[in-house]
Amino acid sequence: MFNSEFSSTEFAGMKLHNRFALAPMTRVSAEANGRANARMVEHYKRYAEGGFALLITEGIYPDQAASQGYENQPGLADALQVESWLPIIRAVHDSGAKIIAQLMHAGAQVQYNSFDQQPLGVTEQQPKGAPLGLYGTQESWHDVKAMDESDFERVLNGFLHGIRGAVEAGFDGVELHGANGYLLNEILSTHFNTREDKWGGDMQRRAQFVLEIVKAAREMVPNGFVLGMRLSQITITDQDYQWPEGEESFNWLVQALADAGIDYIHTTDTEVNTPALKGGVRSLAEVVRDAGIPLIVNGGIDDTNYAKVAAHYPESLLALGKAALADPQFVNKVKEGDKPDALDFAMLQPIANIENEMRWRAENKD
Ligand SMILES: Cc1cc2nc3c(=O)[nH]c(=O)nc-3n(C[C@H](O)[C@H](O)[C@H](O)COP(=O)(O)O)c2cc1C
Repeated sequence: MFNSEFSSTEFAGMKLHNRFALAPMTRVSAEANGRANARMVEHYKRYAEGGFALLITEGIYPDQAASQGYENQPGLADALQVESWLPIIRAVHDSGAKIIAQLMHAGAQVQYNSFDQQPLGVTEQQPKGAPLGLYGTQESWHDVKAMDESDFERVLNGFLHGIRGAVEAGFDGVELHGANGYLLNEILSTHFNTREDKWGGDMQRRAQFVLEIVKAAREMVPNGFVLGMRLSQITITDQDYQWPEGEESFNWLVQALADAGIDYIHTTDTEVNTPALKGGVRSLAEVVRDAGIPLIVNGGIDDTNYAKVAAHYPESLLALGKAALADPQFVNKVKEGDKPDALDFAMLQPIANIENEMRWRAENKD
């Protein structure tokens, strides 16, 4: 039977009251020491109350080393940061939704780090383009230190440390950020990963470190704790990147991730249905769907197309970024046949923090 996007569903072992998820969105609104705060409790609560059954947090840094990428980014790297998430998790659960922590290592894409002087990348390669003004001001990318063998171990342990924190805080799961140009995505990308040792080469070789992290995480997390992974080809400053190996190789990657113990794959692209892979005809999401792996789809979903997307990916969750930013009541409104508010990027100026959004909302009330 067709599973309506508004019906309750079971996804990767979680019971959810519908198929709408909040996409991860960095809001650079934590305290300077990386602790979550009351503003963030209200922020996440609005989405749970607005009808989203699953919230995926903004990218959170897992260690006190090179993983932080932004000023006022929250962490899960020390005990007080872990504790600071408790009121958010409680508020979201009290509103009937689930919440997954997105764990992000910034890699070369660092705009601010309070622990390490220099970004750590798979090679010294910098991202294309310029840093995003949305998350703070910075003219150009920093010089990058290429990972040596001990860095691979440190990064792996950093992720496991963050996952331990997420379990302890009471999150329903974690999502490893393998998209948008951050470290795990860089490792999969031939723009960044030109290594000639065991960590570089074709997709099978480039993916080995990501698979090691997944296997180690799977061994560590308790039963019922969800382990997901976000993947894209594109990055925040390069909308055109494609893996050279194409569709078959992406199909191999998603199968390998499933074999390593991932519970779901979250694909992101500028538009969810566009054929994405070199020489292929399917979107990233279609490849995961056809492989029968639990899927979260993201990219350009709004009030005009969500039902079509839901039907095209019948078992999947629909993750909304900009449409959710525009209107935290999106799900409640479309369910009632009401028109949600459109996005005005002015709410994210001069930077994308919650304070600026709230000021803009107060000034632009009907
Ligand atoms: C302000 C802002 C912050 C974002 N931060 C993150 C992030 O922390 N992690 C991530 O994986 N994606 C992040 N994204 C990307 C979104 O999750 C999403 O993939 C993108 O906006 C495309 O989906 P949409 O068309 O529904 O907006 C961010 C997007 C925006 C607009």
